[in-house]
Amino acid sequence: MTEHLWNSVDTYVTDGLVGHDEFLGGALERSAAAGLPAISVSPPQGKLLHLLARAMRARRILELGTLGGYSTIWLARALPRGGRVVTLELEEKHAHVARDNLRRAGLTRRVEIRLGSALDTLDALIAESVKPFDFVFIDADKPHIPDYYTRTLQLTHPGSLIIVDNVVRDGKLADASSDDPNVQGVRKLHAMLAHDPRVTATTIQTVGSKGYDGFMLALVR
Ligand code: SAH
Ligand code: DHB
Ligand code: MG
Repeated sequence: MTEHLWNSVDTYVTDGLVGHDEFLGGALERSAAAGLPAISVSPPQGKLLHLLARAMRARRILELGTLGGYSTIWLARALPRGGRVVTLELEEKHAHVARDNLRRAGLTRRVEIRLGSALDTLDALIAESVKPFDFVFIDADKPHIPDYYTRTLQLTHPGSLIIVDNVVRDGKLADASSDDPNVQGVRKLHAMLAHDPRVTATTIQTVGSKGYDGFMLALVR
C-alpha cells in the first residue's frame, strides 16, 4: 500500500512536472532491453540532480557509475556550453548501452565515459591533474564509497558539491550491527564526514519508485 502510493506520486510528478522526454524514456527502455538492472535514479531524482547542477552552474561534473547513462543525460543537460561530464563505469556492456543512449540524446561531445574500476580511473584522473570538478555524483558499488569519497575530494575545489546515492538503504544506515558491506560502506562514509573539517554535509531520506533510500550531500569548504 505504502509503496503503491510512493509509485503513484512519482508517476504523477514525472508525468506533470519533471519533463520526461523520449530520450530519457528511451534510455530506460533500451537499458532494460539490453538486460541492465533497473537501478537508475528515478525521474524526479534525476531532475533533482539536474536542478542542483544548474543551480550551482556546474561546468565540470564527475559521475561514478554510468549504467545505461540515464542519470548522465540529466547531468549533461545541466551543463552550459563547453561543459563536460566524465562518467566512470566498470562494465563494458553498460558503457556500450550508455554510449548509444547519449548519442541519441545528442550529448556525445559533452560526455566522456571512462571504462574500468572507479578506484583505478579516479587514480588516473588524479595522476593526470585534471581540472577540478564542480559537482560529483557517487553512484557505483557501495562498499567502496569511503575510498571514492577520499579520491573525489582530491578532484574537487572549495564550493564543489558531492552527492552520494543510496546511503539510507531501507533505514539500515542506522543499524550499527549490520554485516552488510553496503551498509558498512555508507556508515563509514558518515563517520568519516562527521570528523572531516573539509566538508559540511547532510543526508536526506527519500521514498518513491526506488523504495526507501536517500542521498548524502556534502559541500566542500
Ligand atoms: N548512475 C546510474 C546508475 C548506476 S548503477 C543512474 O542513475 O542512471 C551502478 C553502476 O556502477 C553499474 O553500472 C555498475 O556496473 C557500476 N559499477 C559497479 N562497480 C563499479 C566499479 N568498481 N567501478 C566503476 N563502476 C562500477
Ligand atoms: C543498486 C545500486 C544503485 O545505485 C541503486 O540506486 C539501487 C540499487 C544495487 O546495486 O542494487
Ligand atoms: Mg544509485
